[in-house]
Amino acid sequence: MRIFTSLFVVALALVSFTTQAQSPAAPQAQLATPQVSPKAQLVSPPQVSQTPPMGWNSWNYFANKVDDKGIRAAADQLVATGMKDAGYVYVNIDDTWEGERDANGVLAPNAKFPDMKALADYVHSKGLKIGIYSSPGSKTCGGYAGSLGHEEQDAKMYAEWGFDYLKYDLCSFIPDVMEKQAPHNKAAQMRLMHTAYAKMDKALKATGRPIVYSFCQYGWDAVWEWGPSVGANLWRTTGDVTPEWDRIYAIVSQQAGLEEYAGPGHWNDPDMLEVGNGKLTLAENRTHFSLWAMLAAPLLAGNDLPNMKPEIKAILTNRDVIAIDQDPLGRQGARIYSDGEVEVWTRHLAGGALAIAVVNVGDNRYSTHPFHLNLRKLGLAETQTGKDLWTGKTLELTGNELLVMASHDVLLVRVDAPKAIPAVN
Ligand code: GAL
Repeated sequence: MRIFTSLFVVALALVSFTTQAQSPAAPQAQLATPQVSPKAQLVSPPQVSQTPPMGWNSWNYFANKVDDKGIRAAADQLVATGMKDAGYVYVNIDDTWEGERDANGVLAPNAKFPDMKALADYVHSKGLKIGIYSSPGSKTCGGYAGSLGHEEQDAKMYAEWGFDYLKYDLCSFIPDVMEKQAPHNKAAQMRLMHTAYAKMDKALKATGRPIVYSFCQYGWDAVWEWGPSVGANLWRTTGDVTPEWDRIYAIVSQQAGLEEYAGPGHWNDPDMLEVGNGKLTLAENRTHFSLWAMLAAPLLAGNDLPNMKPEIKAILTNRDVIAIDQDPLGRQGARIYSDGEVEVWTRHLAGGALAIAVVNVGDNRYSTHPFHLNLRKLGLAETQTGKDLWTGKTLELTGNELLVMASHDVLLVRVDAPKAIPAVN
């Protein structure tokens, strides 16, 4: 008994030593926002997506040109480029894979996907996971067969094929059911939408296979408030992203204030990545990726992987930035203040660390300068040591230095041991 007691004391001492070793000396309570968001705590931990899902999705670049070959190529490239090792695991087929239902209602893929089970096996053989797409309506947004009236059947089939992720896109459920069954009654329409998402959740759970459930209903009816209660692991908060700075920034602006709803297993989804797509500049690609990491957003690349440029690969595989996104504490970052066209966001990380993103959202390189970071507004004492996550250099932040940032560029800093403003007695 005595031995047991002393072992217990040693264990306690070790726990307390480890805790102290991991925590900085700084009094955490004084930083700008609390450590764990109250709403995020209310949800019981689900099996999947303890950190935001990472992977690749076919829609942003290939749209309706996705096929079996393209999915295999994407899986191969995730491995060959090192993206898999950096955490990109899901290979997600978006819309336009669907064929026709037979007399028993069983849905077959169309000619672009000759054998879904074989495809899933191939993706799994690479150590990756695979995702699929459907709609609660009769048709998907691309006009292909949806799951209306076939929810259990479809969920069972996804599980039999070996799928690990479902994106469920509202699409024709709006005219098919919401507008038909509850014309001119918005509240009733929203209830029908909740029920449809809950129905597929039940069907997915009944398969016994862990399947990430991704809601795509564009943020309607404040989905962040009810999505987790009907099984959402992630939910789109907005309409579609496009590879244009204005659209990306508009989406970012809509995320401010949603941070209290995200947490392990249930994430706000500002839509998939456009890094490497369209005419985004390198600065814009960097900022887009940095902000998605600050937002604890799913990192689903959507670019042409076989033809990815080295500088795009460098952005998508920046381990330090990915570590911000995947931080185990699971707290989404918040916009703390803006000054002219410069915005300052912070994200609380495990072990008391803090990420700071300073973004020049303006179009004119010089319009916001000179810019000095106001550490006090972040609850921080002046003089912090951090790491610039895009240059890898150690940085001393005092608030006196002039930050010069190109238009749409970002300074992303990780401070492992932030020093809070000393308490005033
Ligand atoms: C949209 C959705 C896109 C993509 C597309 C496919 O509703 O937001 O991400 O899935 O449908 O048709």
